[in-house]
Amino acid sequence: MKLVLLGAPGAGKGTQAKKLIEKFDIPQISTGDILRKAVADGTALGKEAKSYMDKGELVPDAVVIGLVKERIAQDDCKKGYILDGFPRNTSQAEALDKVLADMGAPVDVALSVDVDKDVLMRRLTGRRTCKGCQQMYNVYFSPPKKDGTCDKCGGELYQRDDDKEETINNRLDVYEKSTAPLIEYYSKKEILKPVNGIGSIDEIFSSICFVLEQK
Ligand code: AP5
Ligand code: MG
Repeated sequence: MKLVLLGAPGAGKGTQAKKLIEKFDIPQISTGDILRKAVADGTALGKEAKSYMDKGELVPDAVVIGLVKERIAQDDCKKGYILDGFPRNTSQAEALDKVLADMGAPVDVALSVDVDKDVLMRRLTGRRTCKGCQQMYNVYFSPPKKDGTCDKCGGELYQRDDDKEETINNRLDVYEKSTAPLIEYYSKKEILKPVNGIGSIDEIFSSICFVLEQK
């Protein structure tokens, strides 16, 4: 199954992707995670990406399209994959379609996780992630037992650089302008499946599984 996860910043794409990995045994490809790792490693890619990410702007299409092309050609993607945070605009979606048409394996489903803006703000400002195992928490909705420490591995929790209120506002604007039009794009292709992204993580996951079974 080749799945595109659409949704605003904070909609829960990463959270749900982790559960989908377990259920379907296919990898998550998060362009945001790949770029953040490049920034942390201080690579040339990371240095270029950081200036865009810190402002909440999109990293240039050529960069991310290249990353995704390379990633989906790897062996572990043969059974399918979950694209989280890619495509992010129409030109990325068209580039993806072209690559997949050449491989003879188009996208099966585009899941759109829908969440209101006021909820998104709390999800993003409250998000904390473990430096060790990447487990996600939220100080408002799912806090760790001990402040700043991962329940699972004892690692230190950090806040993403782009989870500051002013950057979040720009990310939400960029989403509305550039990414939201993909809902129409995939709807026209008749592969769009909307899911209500409000509720508990497990409730949303059940809705996603239900929608995928209807396919
Ligand atoms: P990216 O990393 O993709 O960030 P994003 O799209 O802004 O989305 P987030 O990761 O912030 O949110 P999410 O939907 O994954 O939510 P999560 O599950 O974490 O991109 C970052 C940057 O990289 C971009 O701004 C851009 O610069 C660059 N970039 C990336 N891809 C690119 C591309 N294709 N092209 C160009 N540039 C690109 O959940 C959020 C919080 O909510 C967590 O605390 C979680 O615990 C909590 N939560 C989740 N679900 C629930 C729930 N049901 N109830 C309560 N809390 C919940
Ligand atoms: Mg994410």
